[in-house]
Amino acid sequence: MSEARLWHAVDEYFTGRLLGDDPDEALAAALRDSDAAGLPAIAVSPLQGKLLQLLAQLQGARTILEIGTLGGYSTIWLGRALPADGRLVSLEYDPRHAEVAVRNLARAGLGERTEVRVGPALESLPKLADEQPPPFDLVFIDADKVNNPHYVEWALRLTAAGSLIVLDNVVRGGRVADPANDDPDVVGTRAALELFGTHPRLSATALQTVGDKDYDGFALARVVA
Ligand code: SAH
Ligand code: DHB
Ligand code: MG
Repeated sequence: MSEARLWHAVDEYFTGRLLGDDPDEALAAALRDSDAAGLPAIAVSPLQGKLLQLLAQLQGARTILEIGTLGGYSTIWLGRALPADGRLVSLEYDPRHAEVAVRNLARAGLGERTEVRVGPALESLPKLADEQPPPFDLVFIDADKVNNPHYVEWALRLTAAGSLIVLDNVVRGGRVADPANDDPDVVGTRAALELFGTHPRLSATALQTVGDKDYDGFALARVVA
């Protein structure tokens, strides 16, 4: 068995044992409708979605910010961690993606708790900050990787001590560790990791992962002050 096939087989095993054999209708339908609408199949895996949900629950998160909605698959996992009066704002550039996501969130029963804001996140974030929302307990950054350092800076403005910032897709096929690589996504991810490692308000780590998303990884930062 090739390495990648083995990773997928183990993820299938873990998914069956840990997430149950019965398909979750709202999550399955979200992926089906995303696919039917031509959205790219780059959502978090089920096991990763559950990790996001557990992290949000460990945080006792009442407010969540997501940057990069796609069809709302990760949004459903995160939204389900919220209490009934919790709030999740997700930022999405592409109106077609946002439209699919809004339908998927409504079907999951999360229409009231979640809001998808359409437009470039770097335009939505200042507007959001102007509204002076309560600090977000968790920020999931998963959009255009070139802007990752800007998203980390905004996340710092929109969080407080105790908040958690999660950055997706930090491995870039291993290119993140090659200082000569000047792919904008790699440069953006490296700059975000630099901030994670050096910012006085952050305490961070990163994990390489294999599985349904092949070779990938997350970085996590706790806001400490
Ligand atoms: N979080 C989703 C996957 C997001 S994929 C999940 O795991 O289910 C990345 C998304 O970011 C895409 O939908 C893309 O359109 C969006 N995106 C790209 N550039 C963006 C930008 N500048 N502002 C907001 N969203 C952006
Ligand atoms: C890509 C983006 C993602 O957010 C992801 O989880 C996987 C792949 C991409 O742009 O290829
Ligand atoms: Mg991602």
